[in-house]
Amino acid sequence: MTTTSGKGPAGPGGGSGAPAAGDVDGTPESVVTGNGTPGDGPGAGEGVASLRRTDTSPGVTVADPAGTAPGPAERLAAGPVMLGAIRRTVGLTLDGTQVRVPEGTTILEALHAEGTPEQADTPTLCWAPNMDPINACRACVVEVEGSRTLVPSCARRCEDGMEVRTGTEKVRHSRRMVLELLASSADMSRASADVARWMSEYGVDADRYGPPAPPAGEGERDRRHAGHHRAPDGRTRETVAQPVKIDNELYVRDYSRCIMCYKCTHACGTDAQFTFAIAAAGRGFDARIATEHDVTLPESACVYCGNCIGVCPTGALVSVAEYDRREAGDWHPEDETVTTTICSFCGVGCNLELHVQQGEIVNVTSPSDHSVTHGHLCIKGRFGFRHVQNLPEG
Ligand code: SF4
Ligand code: SF4
Ligand code: FES
Repeated sequence: MTTTSGKGPAGPGGGSGAPAAGDVDGTPESVVTGNGTPGDGPGAGEGVASLRRTDTSPGVTVADPAGTAPGPAERLAAGPVMLGAIRRTVGLTLDGTQVRVPEGTTILEALHAEGTPEQADTPTLCWAPNMDPINACRACVVEVEGSRTLVPSCARRCEDGMEVRTGTEKVRHSRRMVLELLASSADMSRASADVARWMSEYGVDADRYGPPAPPAGEGERDRRHAGHHRAPDGRTRETVAQPVKIDNELYVRDYSRCIMCYKCTHACGTDAQFTFAIAAAGRGFDARIATEHDVTLPESACVYCGNCIGVCPTGALVSVAEYDRREAGDWHPEDETVTTTICSFCGVGCNLELHVQQGEIVNVTSPSDHSVTHGHLCIKGRFGFRHVQNLPEG
């Protein structure tokens, strides 16, 4: 049986229409015959042949003036024309419900496409629909029959006969611990709405680890040497609290909110930007996101595309426009409207989503499913909006 009531982004093959049985999806639209018109049966080619244009009078465009291209009948005789790869499917159970998904689908994609709303609402921190799985946070774990440990659903591919369980005590306990330990060390108060909801639903209580230890001084965490940890005092909980880094006019790095999900480094690297301006430095609790040699952003390789901001789940990376408004108590997400338009700076055709509060653009993003941007932008699309409001630069 195939359930199709799931929500969330559809995985490969969409969320419905999987065959009830068989090894390949065999969707009829993946095969057309003869002249390329879906549904043509034998004989259809003759009807088409009679329509073939032979008129060569001036003003008429003829695709095959020499008349040497194969006609519809010949093309039909050559057999079916495949338009797109045929993908095998695999069968598995999600909390006891049998589903089939295309081979290569991750468990998370299967939950999004074929699961119930509860199954599709699997918490994720380091996953994004427009990025390759990073597999760092373990918020998305599920049980798989026969597996010694819980497995990350965002990265593990479905296999034939797999039995997946999502709502067990073991799964819920593990997800709660992940969220709780992260919240005990990083400031999650500006995390995305989804993250805030998951923390509430899983009963996260970071305060049970005690009061926070004093914050680190400016640059202190950046100077720590790998492997040289000071012993905790046992009375307070260690945190990554430290001063905000403001060293340019476009975006702010507030690493007190960083959970080391690695999304920013992947967006800056091989997932989108290929600039590699930031990477993980340090070890253990001292691990941190850093520019090369901890230089300021203007001194680094950063090109200010803002793609790291676009994927950060906790608000550690935000535009200066957002940061300043929040600091001034002038941030109104409840009044925000989002208008989609096309970037006017060049001819690529990137979709822009203009986030507007109280008549002013406060952020610009792009839809993750847009075929041109895949959710990523350049400096002009992301930050080049001040002229729209005639604001002075700087
Ligand atoms: S703004 Fe772009 S180039 Fe700069 S660190 Fe972020 S992703 Fe890398
Ligand atoms: S700055 Fe944001 S995106 Fe980068 S690792 Fe930290 S939480 Fe993740
Ligand atoms: S969302 Fe799966 S490991 Fe982070």
